Amino acid sequence: MHRLEGKIALVTGGANGVGEAISKLFAREGATVIVSDIVNEGKDVADYINDNGGKAYFIKMDVSKSCDWDSTINFIKEHYNKLDVLVNNAGIPGAENVENLEENDWHHVMDVNAKSVFLGMKAAVRLMKQNLNGGSIINNSSIWGLVGSGRSAAYQGAKGAVTLLTKTASVEFAKYNIRVNSIHPGIILTPMVKKESLATGRGQVLIDNTPLNRLGKPEEVAYAMLFLASDESSYITGVSLPVDGGYTA
Ligand code: NAI
Repeated sequence: MHRLEGKIALVTGGANGVGEAISKLFAREGATVIVSDIVNEGKDVADYINDNGGKAYFIKMDVSKSCDWDSTINFIKEHYNKLDVLVNNAGIPGAENVENLEENDWHHVMDVNAKSVFLGMKAAVRLMKQNLNGGSIINNSSIWGLVGSGRSAAYQGAKGAVTLLTKTASVEFAKYNIRVNSIHPGIILTPMVKKESLATGRGQVLIDNTPLNRLGKPEEVAYAMLFLASDESSYITGVSLPVDGGYTA
Protein backbone atom coordinates (compact mmCIF):
# COMPACT_ATOMS: atom_id res chain seq x y z
CA MET A 1 0.00 0.00 0.00
CA HIS A 2 1.38 3.39 -0.98
CA ARG A 3 1.53 5.99 1.76
CA LEU A 4 -0.36 8.72 -0.16
CA GLU A 5 -2.69 6.51 -2.19
CA GLY A 6 -5.69 8.45 -3.51
CA LYS A 7 -4.50 11.82 -2.26
CA ILE A 8 -4.37 15.02 -4.31
CA ALA A 9 -1.26 17.04 -3.44
CA LEU A 10 -0.25 20.54 -4.56
CA VAL A 11 3.49 21.28 -4.38
CA THR A 12 4.74 24.82 -5.06
CA GLY A 13 8.21 25.42 -6.43
CA GLY A 14 8.06 21.90 -7.83
CA ALA A 15 10.35 22.49 -10.82
CA ASN A 16 13.66 22.27 -8.97
CA GLY A 17 15.54 21.18 -5.91
CA VAL A 18 13.52 20.21 -2.87
CA GLY A 19 10.14 20.72 -4.61
CA GLU A 20 11.12 18.41 -7.45
CA ALA A 21 12.15 15.71 -4.96
CA ILE A 22 8.88 16.12 -3.02
CA SER A 23 6.79 15.92 -6.20
CA LYS A 24 8.52 12.76 -7.41
CA LEU A 25 8.40 11.04 -4.00
CA PHE A 26 4.74 11.90 -3.41
CA ALA A 27 3.88 10.54 -6.86
CA ARG A 28 5.80 7.32 -6.15
CA GLU A 29 3.72 7.00 -2.98
CA GLY A 30 0.46 7.14 -4.92
CA ALA A 31 -0.53 10.81 -4.81
CA THR A 32 -1.73 12.74 -7.82
CA VAL A 33 0.68 15.66 -7.75
CA ILE A 34 -0.09 19.15 -8.99
CA VAL A 35 3.41 20.45 -9.67
CA SER A 36 3.34 24.24 -9.66
CA ASP A 37 6.12 26.72 -10.35
CA ILE A 38 6.77 30.13 -11.85
CA VAL A 39 9.10 28.53 -14.43
CA ASN A 40 8.08 26.11 -17.18
CA GLU A 41 10.54 23.41 -16.07
CA GLY A 42 7.80 22.27 -13.71
CA LYS A 43 6.20 20.67 -16.78
CA ASP A 44 9.32 18.49 -17.21
CA VAL A 45 8.85 17.23 -13.64
CA ALA A 46 5.17 16.47 -14.29
CA ASP A 47 6.07 14.74 -17.58
CA TYR A 48 8.75 12.67 -15.80
CA ILE A 49 6.20 11.54 -13.22
CA ASN A 50 3.59 10.66 -15.86
CA ASP A 51 6.21 8.80 -17.94
CA ASN A 52 7.21 6.73 -14.90
CA GLY A 53 3.83 5.40 -13.87
CA GLY A 54 2.70 8.28 -11.64
CA LYS A 55 0.06 10.98 -12.01
CA ALA A 56 0.95 14.67 -12.22
CA TYR A 57 -0.16 17.93 -13.77
CA PHE A 58 1.82 21.17 -14.14
CA ILE A 59 0.35 24.57 -13.28
CA LYS A 60 2.36 27.71 -13.86
CA MET A 61 1.82 30.19 -11.04
CA ASP A 62 3.45 32.93 -9.01
CA VAL A 63 2.92 32.08 -5.35
CA SER A 64 3.09 35.75 -4.35
CA LYS A 65 -0.06 36.58 -6.32
CA SER A 66 -3.50 35.90 -4.85
CA CYS A 67 -5.12 35.75 -8.30
CA ASP A 68 -2.77 32.85 -9.22
CA TRP A 69 -3.77 31.01 -6.04
CA ASP A 70 -7.45 31.51 -6.82
CA SER A 71 -7.11 30.12 -10.34
CA THR A 72 -4.96 27.16 -9.17
CA ILE A 73 -7.38 26.14 -6.44
CA ASN A 74 -10.36 26.63 -8.77
CA PHE A 75 -8.64 24.41 -11.35
CA ILE A 76 -8.02 21.70 -8.73
CA LYS A 77 -11.65 21.88 -7.56
CA GLU A 78 -12.93 21.62 -11.11
CA HIS A 79 -10.67 18.73 -12.18
CA TYR A 80 -10.07 16.75 -8.98
CA ASN A 81 -12.85 18.03 -6.68
CA LYS A 82 -10.62 17.92 -3.60
CA LEU A 83 -7.23 18.82 -2.17
CA ASP A 84 -5.63 16.66 0.54
CA VAL A 85 -2.09 18.04 0.81
CA LEU A 86 -0.56 21.46 0.23
CA VAL A 87 3.21 21.91 0.36
CA ASN A 88 4.19 25.58 0.41
CA ASN A 89 7.74 25.05 -0.79
CA ALA A 90 8.54 27.79 -3.34
CA GLY A 91 11.13 30.25 -2.15
CA ILE A 92 13.97 32.53 -3.15
CA PRO A 93 17.23 33.37 -1.39
CA GLY A 94 18.20 36.79 -0.07
CA ALA A 95 21.68 37.31 1.31
CA GLU A 96 21.87 40.87 2.62
CA ASN A 97 22.05 41.70 6.32
CA VAL A 98 19.93 44.41 7.98
CA GLU A 99 22.43 47.20 7.31
CA ASN A 100 22.73 46.50 3.61
CA LEU A 101 19.26 45.29 2.68
CA GLU A 102 17.26 47.56 0.35
CA GLU A 103 13.58 48.10 1.16
CA ASN A 104 12.43 46.78 -2.22
CA ASP A 105 14.40 43.57 -1.74
CA TRP A 106 12.82 43.13 1.70
CA HIS A 107 9.35 43.34 0.13
CA HIS A 108 10.19 40.97 -2.71
CA VAL A 109 11.64 38.25 -0.46
CA MET A 110 8.82 38.64 2.05
CA ASP A 111 6.23 38.38 -0.75
CA VAL A 112 7.66 35.20 -2.27
CA ASN A 113 8.73 33.46 0.95
CA ALA A 114 6.11 34.53 3.52
CA LYS A 115 3.06 36.23 1.97
CA SER A 116 2.84 33.24 -0.38
CA VAL A 117 2.34 30.90 2.58
CA PHE A 118 -0.48 33.04 3.94
CA LEU A 119 -2.11 33.27 0.48
CA GLY A 120 -1.67 29.55 -0.13
CA MET A 121 -3.21 28.48 3.16
CA LYS A 122 -6.07 30.96 2.76
CA ALA A 123 -6.89 29.73 -0.75
CA ALA A 124 -6.38 26.01 -0.05
CA VAL A 125 -8.44 25.83 3.13
CA ARG A 126 -11.58 26.77 1.19
CA LEU A 127 -11.37 23.49 -0.69
CA MET A 128 -9.56 21.36 1.89
CA LYS A 129 -12.10 21.94 4.65
CA GLN A 130 -14.72 20.14 2.58
CA ASN A 131 -12.80 16.84 3.04
CA LEU A 132 -14.34 14.44 5.53
CA ASN A 133 -10.82 13.32 6.53
CA GLY A 134 -9.30 16.78 6.75
CA GLY A 135 -5.94 17.50 5.18
CA SER A 136 -2.29 18.35 5.68
CA ILE A 137 -0.47 21.61 4.99
CA ILE A 138 3.32 21.62 5.17
CA ASN A 139 5.23 24.88 5.01
CA ASN A 140 8.87 24.82 4.05
CA SER A 141 10.64 27.23 6.40
CA SER A 142 14.36 26.84 7.16
CA ILE A 143 16.80 26.58 10.02
CA TRP A 144 16.89 30.34 9.41
CA GLY A 145 13.28 30.43 10.62
CA LEU A 146 14.53 29.11 13.98
CA VAL A 147 17.95 30.67 14.65
CA GLY A 148 19.78 33.80 13.53
CA SER A 149 22.65 33.90 11.06
CA GLY A 150 23.60 37.59 11.08
CA ARG A 151 22.86 37.80 7.35
CA SER A 152 19.92 37.20 5.00
CA ALA A 153 17.67 39.60 6.93
CA ALA A 154 14.66 39.41 4.62
CA TYR A 155 15.02 35.64 4.20
CA GLN A 156 15.20 35.18 7.97
CA GLY A 157 12.27 37.56 8.55
CA ALA A 158 10.21 35.62 6.04
CA LYS A 159 11.15 32.16 7.30
CA GLY A 160 10.53 33.22 10.91
CA ALA A 161 7.10 34.46 9.84
CA VAL A 162 6.41 31.07 8.25
CA THR A 163 7.27 29.33 11.54
CA LEU A 164 4.61 31.18 13.52
CA LEU A 165 2.08 31.45 10.68
CA THR A 166 2.22 27.66 10.69
CA LYS A 167 1.53 27.43 14.39
CA THR A 168 -1.39 29.87 14.36
CA ALA A 169 -2.95 28.19 11.32
CA SER A 170 -2.59 24.79 13.02
CA VAL A 171 -4.75 26.06 15.88
CA GLU A 172 -7.22 27.78 13.55
CA PHE A 173 -7.67 24.84 11.15
CA ALA A 174 -7.81 22.08 13.76
CA LYS A 175 -11.60 22.32 13.72
CA TYR A 176 -11.50 21.08 10.11
CA ASN A 177 -9.00 18.32 10.98
CA ILE A 178 -6.50 20.11 8.78
CA ARG A 179 -3.00 19.71 10.22
CA VAL A 180 -0.39 22.41 9.61
CA ASN A 181 3.32 21.80 10.23
CA SER A 182 6.58 23.35 9.14
CA ILE A 183 9.84 21.78 8.03
CA HIS A 184 13.15 23.50 8.70
CA PRO A 185 15.83 22.22 6.34
CA GLY A 186 19.48 22.80 7.04
CA ILE A 187 21.79 23.25 4.12
CA ILE A 188 20.45 21.11 1.30
CA LEU A 189 22.35 20.65 -1.91
CA THR A 190 20.04 22.30 -4.48
CA PRO A 191 20.57 24.90 -7.21
CA MET A 192 19.71 27.65 -4.68
CA VAL A 193 22.51 26.56 -2.33
CA LYS A 194 25.03 25.89 -5.06
CA LYS A 195 24.63 29.50 -6.18
CA GLU A 196 24.42 31.16 -2.78
CA SER A 197 26.63 29.29 -0.34
CA LEU A 198 29.12 27.10 -2.06
CA ALA A 199 30.31 29.84 -4.41
CA THR A 200 31.32 31.95 -1.43
CA GLY A 201 32.95 29.13 0.55
CA ARG A 202 30.28 29.52 3.22
CA GLY A 203 29.10 25.98 2.59
CA GLN A 204 32.14 24.49 4.34
CA VAL A 205 31.60 26.70 7.41
CA LEU A 206 28.01 25.45 7.62
CA ILE A 207 29.12 21.83 7.23
CA ASP A 208 31.65 22.31 10.03
CA ASN A 209 28.80 23.44 12.30
CA THR A 210 26.55 20.52 11.38
CA PRO A 211 26.96 17.52 13.74
CA LEU A 212 26.32 15.02 10.93
CA ASN A 213 29.14 16.85 9.10
CA ARG A 214 27.62 17.05 5.64
CA LEU A 215 25.04 18.87 3.53
CA GLY A 216 21.56 17.40 3.20
CA LYS A 217 19.92 15.95 0.11
CA PRO A 218 16.57 17.10 -1.31
CA GLU A 219 15.23 13.57 -0.83
CA GLU A 220 15.95 13.76 2.92
CA VAL A 221 13.63 16.77 3.17
CA ALA A 222 11.07 15.05 0.94
CA TYR A 223 10.88 12.01 3.25
CA ALA A 224 10.07 14.25 6.24
CA MET A 225 7.40 15.95 4.11
CA LEU A 226 6.02 12.53 3.17
CA PHE A 227 5.54 11.59 6.82
CA LEU A 228 3.73 14.86 7.57
CA ALA A 229 1.60 14.54 4.42
CA SER A 230 0.55 10.97 5.21
CA ASP A 231 -2.02 9.74 7.70
CA GLU A 232 0.88 8.30 9.75
CA SER A 233 1.22 11.76 11.31
CA SER A 234 -2.52 12.14 12.03
CA TYR A 235 -1.98 13.42 15.60
CA ILE A 236 0.81 15.86 14.74
CA THR A 237 0.02 19.51 14.12
CA GLY A 238 1.70 22.85 14.84
CA VAL A 239 5.14 21.24 14.86
CA SER A 240 8.38 22.84 13.60
CA LEU A 241 10.50 19.90 12.40
CA PRO A 242 14.19 20.55 11.68
CA VAL A 243 15.75 18.40 8.94
CA ASP A 244 19.21 19.78 9.46
CA GLY A 245 21.78 17.14 10.44
CA GLY A 246 21.65 18.50 13.98
CA TYR A 247 22.57 22.12 13.11
CA THR A 248 19.95 23.57 15.51
CA ALA A 249 20.40 20.85 18.16
P1 NAI B 1 15.35 26.02 -5.70
O1 NAI B 1 15.78 27.37 -6.15
O2 NAI B 1 16.08 24.82 -6.17
O3 NAI B 1 13.79 25.82 -6.00
C1 NAI B 1 12.85 26.82 -5.69
C2 NAI B 1 11.74 26.78 -6.70
O4 NAI B 1 10.79 27.82 -6.37
C3 NAI B 1 12.23 27.04 -8.11
O5 NAI B 1 11.77 26.03 -8.98
C4 NAI B 1 11.66 28.39 -8.46
O6 NAI B 1 11.36 28.56 -9.83
C5 NAI B 1 10.39 28.42 -7.58
N1 NAI B 1 9.92 29.78 -7.37
C6 NAI B 1 10.66 30.87 -7.05
N2 NAI B 1 9.86 31.96 -6.96
C7 NAI B 1 8.60 31.53 -7.21
C8 NAI B 1 7.34 32.18 -7.27
N3 NAI B 1 7.21 33.51 -7.06
N4 NAI B 1 6.24 31.45 -7.55
C9 NAI B 1 6.34 30.12 -7.76
N5 NAI B 1 7.51 29.45 -7.74
C10 NAI B 1 8.63 30.16 -7.46
O7 NAI B 1 15.35 26.08 -4.11
P2 NAI B 1 15.35 24.92 -3.02
O8 NAI B 1 16.68 24.90 -2.40
O9 NAI B 1 14.77 23.68 -3.58
O10 NAI B 1 14.36 25.56 -1.94
C11 NAI B 1 13.01 25.13 -1.81
C12 NAI B 1 12.50 25.67 -0.49
O11 NAI B 1 13.28 25.13 0.58
C13 NAI B 1 12.59 27.19 -0.37
O12 NAI B 1 11.46 27.68 0.30
C14 NAI B 1 13.83 27.38 0.46
O13 NAI B 1 13.82 28.62 1.16
C15 NAI B 1 13.74 26.19 1.39
N6 NAI B 1 15.01 25.85 1.98
C16 NAI B 1 16.05 25.43 1.19
C17 NAI B 1 17.25 25.13 1.81
C18 NAI B 1 18.41 24.67 1.02
O14 NAI B 1 19.49 24.57 1.62
N7 NAI B 1 18.29 24.39 -0.26
C19 NAI B 1 17.45 25.24 3.24
C20 NAI B 1 16.27 25.67 3.97
C21 NAI B 1 15.11 25.95 3.33
